[in-house]
Order: sequence, then C-alpha cells, then structure tokens
Amino acid sequence: KSREEYKNINFLITAGGTKEYIDPVRFISNKSSGKMGLAFCDSVKKRGGSFRLICPSSVEAHYPAVFADTAGDMLARVNDFISECDILIMAAAVADYKPKKYFSSKIKKNNGHMCVDLEKNPDILQEISGYKRKNQVFVGFAAESDNLQENALKKLKDKKLDMIVANDISRKDIGFDSLYNEVTVFFADGKVEHIGKKRKSEIAEDILNFAVNIFKNKKGF
Ligand code: C5P
Repeated sequence: KSREEYKNINFLITAGGTKEYIDPVRFISNKSSGKMGLAFCDSVKKRGGSFRLICPSSVEAHYPAVFADTAGDMLARVNDFISECDILIMAAAVADYKPKKYFSSKIKKNNGHMCVDLEKNPDILQEISGYKRKNQVFVGFAAESDNLQENALKKLKDKKLDMIVANDISRKDIGFDSLYNEVTVFFADGKVEHIGKKRKSEIAEDILNFAVNIFKNKKGF
C-alpha cells in the first residue's frame, strides 16, 4: 500500500550547498552535503510520488537532477519548475551572500592582502512566495546555532511557509554531513512537533508525511 501513498503528488526538491564563485576555480560555499535532500527523493520514490531534484552538480545524486550551482541559478531553476509542483521541499543550503565581483580569469597571488566584498543573494523562498498557489505546500529549513525557535518562527512567517524544519547546528553528532539528524518542526497553524535523533531517511519520511497531510487537507481529501 505504501508504494501508492504519494501517487499523483509532484514534489520539487532542492538539495546541497550553493557555490558562489570568486573566479573560475574558487568559490564560497557551506557544509551542506545534500544528504537530507536526497533522503527526501528516496522517500518520495518509495511511496510512488514523482519528484524533480534541483542541486549543485557536486552533490552525489543517484537521480537525474537539474543542476544549479549558484543561488542565482537555483532561483532561475526553481522558477522554471515551481508551477508544476504540489509540494516544495527547499532543503538546499542557499548561500546568503555572494562575491560582489566575479573575476573571469584566475586571480594571481601577490604579496598584499586580499579582500572579497560580499553582497546579498536573492532569497528564493521569498521571491517565489508571491505566486504560491493556494493548494501548494512550501517546506523550508532552518539551521540555527542560537535562538532556534525565535529564528525559525520568523523565517516561517517571512517566507510564507506551511512548515519549517529547524535543526540545532551547534550539535556535532547530527546535521551537516551526518547520517543522523534531530529536528523541531514549526507549522503555520502554530503546531510544533519534535522529531528525536534518528536517521535522515526516517526524518525525511516523517517530514513528508506532515507535508502530505497539509496538502491533502488543502485539497479537501
Ligand atoms: O538561510 P536561511 O536560514 O534563511 O534559510 C532558510 C530557508 O530558506 C531554507 O529552506 C533555504 O533553502 C531557504 N533559502 C532561500 N534563499 C536563500 C537563502 C535560504 O530560499 N537565499
């Protein structure tokens, strides 16, 4: 039965950390491996749903993916595919800043110090929140080292999400690059659910079940 559970539900899943290039060989990025996003793909597939994966080419995806290396690319690709999805799982760690200037040839070293000026990247969830359809469900993530609840609730509201999955990155045994995670999920209706430490694959299943329930309620079945 479970292989049919998500039949006819379309997911859009983003995964991994974006890379913001300084020159052709150097970039600024973050510790996100893409494992959580891939766990969502596995789970959706197991339950008969369909998904499109958007991720940087460095993510070792065992699925065909639409590649997006930078935040700018990812915004463009999410825009391309957002209208066809029922549930958006925005698991990518999108870099908040990018180098202000891109050098088209490799920067040569010299004796002086070097400065890289950064500017804000577009916020993908915020950009697309304006044309979210009533029946769509948007799921965001918040990796926090301080004030987890306060920060997560602010993002939930600002980005007009249905739910946000918050994890505490000050813990070494879970999260980045680990097979395990422990998260708290905050819902737009005020509900809160804690998911204790377990494999990312199991966390993904719990989160998808929450999201699918919201979707089915919106659709009225
Ligand atoms: O970086 P932040 O903590 O605000 O990320 C929270 C959520 O917003 C994540 O789901 C992330 O994928 C998304 N995000 C985004 N565009 C950005 C930064 C983050 O869509 N520029």
